Amino acid sequence: MKYKIAIIEKIHSAGIDLLDKHPDYEHELITDVSEENLIKTLPKYNACTLRVSKLNEKILKHCPNLKAISRHGVGYDNVDLNYIKKNNITLLITATANAVAVAEHVISMFLCASKSIFKYDNEVRAGNFKSNSDKIQTFELLNKNILIAGFGRIGKKLISRCRAFDAKVYVYDPYVDESVIKEFGGIKVNSLDDGLKIADYVSLHMPLTKETENMINYSTLKKMKKNSIIVNTARGGIINELDLEKALNENLIFGAALDVFSKEPVEKDNPLLKNKKVILSPHSATFTDECTSRMGIETTKNIIEFFENKLDKSKIIKT
Ligand SMILES: NC(=O)c1ccc[n+]([C@@H]2O[C@H](COP(=O)([O-])OP(=O)(O)OC[C@H]3O[C@@H](n4cnc5c(N)ncnc54)[C@H](O)[C@@H]3O)[C@@H](O)[C@H]2O)c1
Repeated sequence: MKYKIAIIEKIHSAGIDLLDKHPDYEHELITDVSEENLIKTLPKYNACTLRVSKLNEKILKHCPNLKAISRHGVGYDNVDLNYIKKNNITLLITATANAVAVAEHVISMFLCASKSIFKYDNEVRAGNFKSNSDKIQTFELLNKNILIAGFGRIGKKLISRCRAFDAKVYVYDPYVDESVIKEFGGIKVNSLDDGLKIADYVSLHMPLTKETENMINYSTLKKMKKNSIIVNTARGGIINELDLEKALNENLIFGAALDVFSKEPVEKDNPLLKNKKVILSPHSATFTDECTSRMGIETTKNIIEFFENKLDKSKIIKT
């Protein structure tokens, strides 16, 4: 018998090649990710890959053969964790593929926002080579305080990149021991507020949970420095978007950069789309050529290793 694998939304061909080389697997691409279509098509599969579409109880209860869900990524807020726990479905993540790509995305957002790259670009194109450039404020990372909130895989890749710019790095993560933070050259802060008060740059790297939802809101933004920049590549709901818009309009902070949004694709009437103090990207922090290939491979390799009982435990999410 061959294992039937559903590829829910396209992944890099390098991942598909891995399945093709293996005699025990057959696969099919599912591009229509509507609830209705997933209920109809998923029941016959033994495992699936999953990008950003949702697998809720309504869909999963029609999938008696499903043994593993292999996330193309590390976040899993799109999967019904209660249901998979009760029904013994294993959740796998690409734990090693994407941290560097996200860390580089954060650095590029820090630099674009603080060097006002897009404002300069607009001025040059508008023919204002000299006249407006002195009105644009820019900053350096040198000797600045950077707060990394959430010190897991991505936070740990980001810290060395920040330190390469001679910045002082503070870390807020109540679940990581001070000695680990020290080992990476960071300084532990005991509360988010303590970090926000001293930071010139803030980058968020925690999961979206009940505890972290709206963690950055008007009241926390008010505590930040006027020249500070906040970057969110984690999950949209962690920053309250309306509060961020208000804080930017009231000049409470200098700028923001967002790769993730509370609703994705971002809604057309989201006021941040018109706000020039924000840099936006479409949940694309991992979209480098190198990372999409690594993620494609790790997503299908996890499935193969799961069925062969060879999977490293760090790839399995305990629900
Ligand atoms: N933009 C993208 O394309 C992209 C790509 C990968 C990951 N992500 C997101 O980035 C985030 C981090 O990913 P990771 O791989 O580093 O995860 P990880 O699980 O390795 O690390 C998360 C860290 O957050 C900490 N944490 C949990 N609750 C916290 C809280 N209340 N306050 C502070 N810290 C808290 C944990 O202790 C852990 O160290 C996740 O939300 C993930 O979904 C986004």
